[in-house]
Amino acid sequence: MTHIAIVVGSLREQSFNRRLARALVKLAPSSVTFSWPDIGNLPLYDQDDDEDQADPVKTFKAAIQAADAVVFVTPEYNRSIPGVLKNAIDHASRPYGKSAWRGKPAGILGVSPGILGTALAQQHLRNVLSVLDMPTMSQPEAYVRWDEGLLVQVEENDEVLREDSAAFLRNWLARFLEFVAQVQAGRAVK
Ligand code: FNR
Repeated sequence: MTHIAIVVGSLREQSFNRRLARALVKLAPSSVTFSWPDIGNLPLYDQDDDEDQADPVKTFKAAIQAADAVVFVTPEYNRSIPGVLKNAIDHASRPYGKSAWRGKPAGILGVSPGILGTALAQQHLRNVLSVLDMPTMSQPEAYVRWDEGLLVQVEENDEVLREDSAAFLRNWLARFLEFVAQVQAGRAVK
């Protein structure tokens, strides 16, 4: 079994990124389980609180620690990642030496109505994940363009990806699971 934490970089109720992430989860094999750590209830990061982290921060960190891997599904805000996502990342990276992120394999996805499909936000996120020592899958990249036909409604509150996009993301997920297995195997021989 592989357990993946999905961190969505948008708090918006009808977030395209959250909807994409939900549709992605439906493509996963039964050997994969998912959690959805909440970043919307975290306080603003304040280094003075490092030794006494708030309960939602502890809960968030525990969810990351419990995961084998992390998939970030994020919008692009002003050519970078949303502040709420950076806030969550900073929280779980502290106190110094007790980061929840270290060594966790990561994957990045994003969807935007804009032509760049979150490419610049994803590159910024790669910088951050690098200093956190998270091995991050390089290829395939996934810059998804939102259009109203991307997700197809099957029932109320239940959507699936259009078949061409489903094929693309099924392959992305298969490659990501291979990547996670490689990272884990590399760790075992150390
Ligand atoms: C945006 N949006 C946006 N889109 C983009 O492709 N590049 C960008 O730099 C920005 N910048 C930006 C800043 C701010 C503050 C907002 C609110 C929005 C548009 C963005 O892609 C759009 O609102 C998406 O719907 C956000 O993702 P969710 O919330 O639907 O997942």
